[in-house]
Amino acid sequence: MSLRYQNKVVVVTGGSKGIGRGIVKAFVENGAIVVFCARGVAAGEAQEAELNTQGPGSCKFVRCDMSKEEEIKRLITVTVELYGHIDCLVNNAGWHPPHKSTDETTAEEFRNLLNLNLISYFLASKFALPYLRQRQGNIINISSLVGTIGQKDAAPYVATKGAIISMTKAMAVDESGHHVRVNCISPGNVMTPLWEELAAQTVDATATIRTGENAQLMGRMGTEAECGLAAVFLAADATFCTGIDLHLSGGAELNYGFKSQIPS
Ligand SMILES: NC(=O)c1ccc[n+]([C@@H]2O[C@H](COP(=O)([O-])OP(=O)(O)OC[C@H]3O[C@@H](n4cnc5c(N)ncnc54)[C@H](OP(=O)(O)O)[C@@H]3O)[C@@H](O)[C@H]2O)c1
Repeated sequence: MSLRYQNKVVVVTGGSKGIGRGIVKAFVENGAIVVFCARGVAAGEAQEAELNTQGPGSCKFVRCDMSKEEEIKRLITVTVELYGHIDCLVNNAGWHPPHKSTDETTAEEFRNLLNLNLISYFLASKFALPYLRQRQGNIINISSLVGTIGQKDAAPYVATKGAIISMTKAMAVDESGHHVRVNCISPGNVMTPLWEELAAQTVDATATIRTGENAQLMGRMGTEAECGLAAVFLAADATFCTGIDLHLSGGAELNYGFKSQIPS
């Protein structure tokens, strides 16, 4: 099979686990040079070593806490120092806090989540755009299906994800004059360490996972690999798409369900 992103330079935030890991792997499999970050060094370095033995592309792990502006700036600077340019930025690092009602949520918790889930996407884009413009590159933002359809006891998370979709459209407009495409992927349920952690906090983790699987028309969760394929599609193939929100949801948003919470 031909390589679809050969020798292109891609930055992936939060690439050591879960959806980010699937994205890093898919780009390396398609010949790209990928710089990815996370806070945890062990998982990042292990993934770097594993993928570099597989190729045909390559990857480089850089430790970076995406909630810190100076570290985000450094991630972009290091990439350009190492590889000279950037063709694609994938904003993925984010967190879903345990479910909590609005009454129990503090302003500080909301602000911290906003900082990681939204402001970091803005800042990484801001620092990478001067380079992306030189290459007529593209940005891929990982949002979430719940940014469109909502989710119980998760108002701050849903708000950050909805804002990512809006910001994607705003930046697509702004950057069109520079031939930079800006798109977003909204996954539904994808089995990742984050999903497993959230399930583990419920009374019956196995039942929670089964419910999560049945939320999709397809009767299963999405995989990290499928997220990777969607990202490579947007970067390499979707050359007439900008400002789109690609639902990677197994049809979770379709059909009627038993949704009323009003006591009968
Ligand atoms: N899984 C789903 O069902 C689902 C659905 C819709 C949307 N999403 C979105 O997809 C993205 C990835 O989710 P996931 O399920 O793959 O999560 P995950 O399994 O927790 O993986 C998150 C990755 O991001 C890194 N990360 C977390 N905080 C970071 C920070 N402050 N700075 C740098 N890296 C950081 C983690 O490494 P370290 O912990 O070592 O830093 C890890 O590599 C998130 O934006 C999430 O909202 C997920």
